[in-house]
Amino acid sequence: MVITSAHLFSLVALTFTLALAADQDPLQDFCVAQPKSQVIVNGLACKDPSLVEANDFFFRGLHLAGNTTNLVGSKVTPVTVSQLPGLNTLGISLARIDFAPWGTNPPHTHPRATEILNVIQGTLEVGFVTSNPGNLHITKVLQKGDVFVFPIGLVHYQRNVGSANAVAIAALSSQNPGVVTIANAVFGAVPEIASDVLAKAFQLDKDVVANLQSKF
Ligand SMILES: *[C@@H]1O[C@H](CO)[C@@H](O)[C@H](O)[C@H]1NC(C)=O
Repeated sequence: MVITSAHLFSLVALTFTLALAADQDPLQDFCVAQPKSQVIVNGLACKDPSLVEANDFFFRGLHLAGNTTNLVGSKVTPVTVSQLPGLNTLGISLARIDFAPWGTNPPHTHPRATEILNVIQGTLEVGFVTSNPGNLHITKVLQKGDVFVFPIGLVHYQRNVGSANAVAIAALSSQNPGVVTIANAVFGAVPEIASDVLAKAFQLDKDVVANLQSKF
């Protein structure tokens, strides 16, 4: 077969698609986010480098406990590009997660990030589930000082199995990891997903589905 420039172009295009499946590498020292910019780019537009200051690379407050008085008993305090504009284009972010006793960070995925979690207080049961058809549940109980990784895209959760509060710090491989909380996405979609779709998907009666939809 003769390799034409069209072939080469599609090969290059394919390579590009794969290479851009993660946050882009910066092409300069930094690109501090300029959230008010009218320019729409993949990420956020850069602030004029001559106007950049230390506070653009700074966030204060991760020593503060999140309020866990809610239905799940946990609170995530994110430090993504939304809170720390200097993270733009750098492919990394952080979060603090607080747990009341038996509090749960419910099953969710980060569409754009692998997460590495470090327990700094208490005892957490954590787990993730591999993709179809295996759906293997990988789970472990973590103590203070333990570190666990949740691979990009996989459904995962954490639960405080100790009698006191627990705290974890998580690093994520995106400036904007995104969160898809399974229950909210499925039962809280706006407008809602037809109840017979969910009844079949979860093998539930439609009234049970309607009840779940009313809660999210
Ligand atoms: C925590 O959240 C609950 C529920 O929203 C609220 O009633 C309570 O005042 C909050 N506590 C603090 C310390 O902010």
